[in-house]
Amino acid sequence: MSAQSSSAQGLGNSERQDAPQHHWHGVLDSAMDAVGHTPLIRLQTIAREEGFKCNLMGKCEFFSAGGSVKDRIAKRMVEQAERDGKLVKGQSVVIEPTSGNTGIGLALACAIKGYKCIITLPAKMSLEKEVMLRALGAEIVRTPTEAAWDSPESHIGVAKKLRDSIPHAIILDQYANPHNPLAHYYTTYKEIEYALQTSSLPRKDISVLVAGAGTGGTITGISRGIRDAQKEGDARTTVVAVDPVGSILGGGEPGNYQVEGIGYDFFPEVLDPKPPTVDRWIKTEDGEAFAATKRLIRSEGLFIGGSSGSALSGAIRYLHSADGQAVAKDPEANVVVILPDGVRNYMSKPWFLDVAADASMKELRDHIRGVLGRELNAPDAVVAQAESQGASLEKGEGVDHTSSPEGTEATLVEQTSNQKSIDDPSVPTQEAHSVQA
Ligand SMILES: Cc1ncc(COP(=O)(O)O)c(C=O)c1O
Repeated sequence: MSAQSSSAQGLGNSERQDAPQHHWHGVLDSAMDAVGHTPLIRLQTIAREEGFKCNLMGKCEFFSAGGSVKDRIAKRMVEQAERDGKLVKGQSVVIEPTSGNTGIGLALACAIKGYKCIITLPAKMSLEKEVMLRALGAEIVRTPTEAAWDSPESHIGVAKKLRDSIPHAIILDQYANPHNPLAHYYTTYKEIEYALQTSSLPRKDISVLVAGAGTGGTITGISRGIRDAQKEGDARTTVVAVDPVGSILGGGEPGNYQVEGIGYDFFPEVLDPKPPTVDRWIKTEDGEAFAATKRLIRSEGLFIGGSSGSALSGAIRYLHSADGQAVAKDPEANVVVILPDGVRNYMSKPWFLDVAADASMKELRDHIRGVLGRELNAPDAVVAQAESQGASLEKGEGVDHTSSPEGTEATLVEQTSNQKSIDDPSVPTQEAHSVQA
């Protein structure tokens, strides 16, 4: 019996979908049942380092089946379109313009349910997302990052053009589909509420919620869930939206930034940007977002992606601000930060490789070099190669896999031969001998 059917037996499809599901029970019917149900995890080291007394927590969406918060909306939009008779098995072609994660959620649903899927993706989005999408059987069309949202060349423009020319094609349209925020109202918010209610924390309410905004579905849906659950006399939750410099959602001019998945040059229909839904907008820079990403990985062991770093840096800034200080000092206050996806989406990105090449390990590295009597891999060379490949990809050019920067090739060959010697003791190298001795 699946998690769905064990706790929602006898319900009609739509009620089943909205019934709170918080735990896995028994065996799941498919990966669709493994969408959402993500843990709320305390960020104790970061809170301590910042001097916060409050309970700082991250809702870790990379635990979801497709690896992001957007799995939830993909599942709900597909299942609703099926109920409405808009999707026909073996016939429909699902097309979606996305920064990648909604695409992965949709491609996952389409793979399981048997629909064709086309994803239009701005060039800046990571290679990992494209590879995942292709692995799920989706067709990918890259579009220029700098194209304005309403130009025919943008990911939205290209998706519409394809929809108009492909029979049985449909755009579920995360930017306007009410089931985008509803997915968060019925699942993301309910899970946070359930986690707090069943915790040993002294208070069960949310003092501050912090989330980045792309389509705005996450922050709008969770905030509406919070507001609807609040009773008279309850303390009011402050809802803080985080937006990169270069996006217009939280004010400012459109421009370039590297963080993926949040910010736009237009206001999506599903985003409700004003109070009572969103109380406060905080603008974040790439540098602080990537530094916060590194902190979440290094100090909390959470494999989160760049927009999680944006959300955390926004939360830190709010809690240090005049408005946020009272919450930061309150040991009973709960602060929830939405961490939308995982770092596995970004491993080829220069900003992540910079994290991996951190110089703080130098002393230990020198020691290992001394013990082994040979050079270790050269992170700078790997980073330089990845940077040039990333730059080529962002320009829409192919990548030459045959050339590698000086030192990298030799290092890779060396690593491969050592790996072989460990796997297969019949062909030991010198290093392998000393390991085995
Ligand atoms: C990595 C990442 N973070 C945050 C978001 C923002 O979510 P929403 O579109 O619900 O505002 C997205 C959306 O695509 C995303 O991919």
